[in-house]
Amino acid sequence: MSGLIPQHFIDDLITRADIVEVLGRRIPLKKAGREFKACCPFHDEKTPSFTVSPAKGFYHCFGCGAHGTALGFLMEYDHMEFVEAVESLAGMMGIEVPREDSQRPARRYDELFELMQKVEQHYQQELRKHQPAADYLRARGIDGATAKRFGIGYAPSGWSHLLDKFGTSTEASDRLLAVGLIIRKDNGKHYDRFRGRIMFPIRDSRGRCIGFGGRVMGQEEPKYLNSPETVLFHKGRELYGLYEARQAIRNIERLVVVEGYMDVIGLARHGIDFAAATLGTATTDEHLNRLFRLSDEVHFCFDGDRAGRAAAWRALETALPQIREGRQVRFVFLPEGQDPDSYVQNDGADGFEKALDQSLALSDYLVEELASQVDMKSLDGRARLAELARPLVNRIPPGVYKALLIERLAESVGLAAPKLEAILAENPSKPTLGAGRGGLGGLRQKSKPSAGKPSIVRRAISLLLNNPDAAGKLDIEQLAGVSKPGTELLRDLIETVQSEPNMTTARLLERWRTHEEGRHLGKLAAVELPVSEDFDAAAELEQCIAQLKLAGKRERVDFLIEKERLRVLSDAERNELRELGQGSATGG
Ligand code: CTP
Ligand code: MN
Repeated sequence: MSGLIPQHFIDDLITRADIVEVLGRRIPLKKAGREFKACCPFHDEKTPSFTVSPAKGFYHCFGCGAHGTALGFLMEYDHMEFVEAVESLAGMMGIEVPREDSQRPARRYDELFELMQKVEQHYQQELRKHQPAADYLRARGIDGATAKRFGIGYAPSGWSHLLDKFGTSTEASDRLLAVGLIIRKDNGKHYDRFRGRIMFPIRDSRGRCIGFGGRVMGQEEPKYLNSPETVLFHKGRELYGLYEARQAIRNIERLVVVEGYMDVIGLARHGIDFAAATLGTATTDEHLNRLFRLSDEVHFCFDGDRAGRAAAWRALETALPQIREGRQVRFVFLPEGQDPDSYVQNDGADGFEKALDQSLALSDYLVEELASQVDMKSLDGRARLAELARPLVNRIPPGVYKALLIERLAESVGLAAPKLEAILAENPSKPTLGAGRGGLGGLRQKSKPSAGKPSIVRRAISLLLNNPDAAGKLDIEQLAGVSKPGTELLRDLIETVQSEPNMTTARLLERWRTHEEGRHLGKLAAVELPVSEDFDAAAELEQCIAQLKLAGKRERVDFLIEKERLRVLSDAERNELRELGQGSATGG
């Protein structure tokens, strides 16, 4: 995929393109209400089930499931490559495709890095000028040296500080747009993305600033705003603080993976220089590659809440294929309500190091977590443990580590290792249970949702894709702690719609074209939704979000009740259960 056509050009093109005209030149379309119909060009049919929605910029065949935008249609129907399709569509509209200097891409990246550096310095200067921002940092325990080490800055409120300073020509504002520092309105005007926020520069492995995180100082929402995915910044690849850790420590013995900016900074402030954060996304393969390149010992230390525990289990699942002898993956579980930042503030570096020393090895975590999901006293329960372990163990590469883990499991299950190994090698009879401490799937095996009924997350995404306007007022913080698959994508979509005006279905789909999830989005956009006059998409969406929040809470309650039944509930968890309104009165 060519990164040479600016994203904003594709945004504009797809917003302005008339899908009816594009398709109408190739197949006969007939008006039917607000939409257009045709016999599907992608499969044989007598009665038209191919529908085109001009408002959404989207076509969909109810017969064969074909769907897409005007660009997608050109690619499918005319067998064009993406860039060709863009050029063809632009040509039809009489627009020239701007090219980011293809002769000298390296040079152009240099310019973007240079710009980021200037902006970073600008934010740092602004911090010196804004006493309340400096006071905020001090109140959070960040001293001047730490702030300097992490290059912390401040973006004052106002819509055009960066624009006025760095975006005075078209080329200059194009650069700001390319690195995600300004947002383009549909009238072609721009405004600063980050306003009134403490700014944390995110660096690549060479120390170059590639993006920012920005935190509000008060209670406004969203609490954090991050740079979008750009040519420089890929969330799934970067770890905040890794560069700084390498600067501080020559030979990193162990690395701690935490959730947030303030965790990394709070730890560094106390001399724990070896932490890095995943920035609100799940730990990816690529994250792990980078971590293991620097150190053989990786500790995951997420927040002591449901979301943190779910993230830990997911990190375990992601890490399995990368485990081998000599590598250590360990897990630190903080007390309820704490995160690494608060923990180190309360207990100091010694306390945190102690927590690290007492961390749980991956194999222990795996066995204990699975054991907590079954009744280990019964034969059935132990057989079930083997079932649950199978898909996980099978992801570990063959070797000593795997053999030892199987031995360990065999002991728990009460079988001879070779026997268990044989069972593990059988074909799986059940799908993977994505359960986790904190209840990803709940502790008890739940029946799969019936095929006809889409999950709430899928429904929410469908609603949002079809009615981007309806997402304007949603509070994404409500999704914090919800671990259902797809929730992160839903969050990203809501954030995109909220930060960019006049979003359309087609534009969202094109924005996600190169993402892995892009393939599913088309299908979800094609889901049939009610078309009645009084259908209120915004209210429906809000209801989905509320349901998700509730489902998250319910999972947690189930999890705690099960723990109570097994008599392994901690005091903090008992309090939490009581607060959730479900606690039994008896102590245990
Ligand atoms: N995050 C985000 N967007 C949000 C909330 C969180 O991107 N709206 C990401 C940020 O990278 C953040 C991390 O998730 O640092 C952890 O979130 P949270 O625990 O809520 O923040 P803390 O790091 O604890 O921040 P603070 O102590 O400043 O409240
Ligand atoms: Mn936190």
